Amino acid sequence: MENLKGKKVVIAGGSAGIGLATAKAVALQGGEVIIVSSNPERIDTALAGLPAGNTGFAADLTNEGQVSALFTNIGSFDHLVYTAGETLHLSSIEDVKVVDARQFFNVRYWGAFTAVKYAVPHINRGGSITLTGGVAALRPGKGWSLGASICAAMEGFTRAMAIELAPLRVNMVSPGVVKTGLWSNMPEAEREGMYSHFSGQLPVRYVAGPEDIAETYLYLMRQKYSTGQSVIADGGYVLI
Ligand SMILES: NC(=O)c1ccc[n+]([C@@H]2O[C@H](COP(=O)([O-])OP(=O)(O)OC[C@H]3O[C@@H](n4cnc5c(N)ncnc54)[C@H](OP(=O)(O)O)[C@@H]3O)[C@@H](O)[C@H]2O)c1
Repeated sequence: MENLKGKKVVIAGGSAGIGLATAKAVALQGGEVIIVSSNPERIDTALAGLPAGNTGFAADLTNEGQVSALFTNIGSFDHLVYTAGETLHLSSIEDVKVVDARQFFNVRYWGAFTAVKYAVPHINRGGSITLTGGVAALRPGKGWSLGASICAAMEGFTRAMAIELAPLRVNMVSPGVVKTGLWSNMPEAEREGMYSHFSGQLPVRYVAGPEDIAETYLYLMRQKYSTGQSVIADGGYVLI
């Protein structure tokens, strides 16, 4: 296992949720974290919860010019983690507005695609890339046409990059339901009802917090032999 001490880790989507939990876990291991999000205030708040010496950059990851400038400014680093995503709107295929659905590929898929393109020249030998998908690709519920499509696209992209960028390792994490701000557009009672439903159904009997998922990104950064893989951290969701 590689030690993360002194390693520079860029976390695109590091101001909240799974990205922020990963930033905290990397910092605990002695790594240096650079968090990226579109919102300078959220970056400052996130940095206040991290040890001194870690930094942040504001960039809209859907904007190619900003992504290119971001990685030029950051310079060389060791590991890229991509967790950026916005709240999804679930809808049946009958009701979905195609023009809106297309937009949801922008942060998760095209943002990751663009970040990989501009990050790669700056990643040190022995580094890695870890992207994010979700188990919706494997076991979608009703209304998940869009979410399942994005997660499946991320898997194909991950495998393609593992071949093209070798020996740089490229993997992804596929979470199940995680308690983060991603679900903030749901009325509280409905959201708590969903968490409670899954707590009863999941083999592990609880819904993950972002820190549960962060461990998977650390694993993929530190071990040196997996590439092109999607590692599931879902509490057993795909089995039920
Ligand atoms: N939570 C779940 O249940 C769950 C389940 C399966 C998969 N996932 C996946 O895991 C990933 C992380 O989700 P999360 O739950 O951690 O979400 P989150 O708590 O909402 O965090 C999302 C992060 O993305 C950043 N972001 C959004 N749009 C951006 C943009 N245009 N440019 C730069 N940064 C942007 C946000 O920062 P700013 O707002 O500050 O820009 C924030 O740091 C997503 O891909 C999500 O689909 C989550």
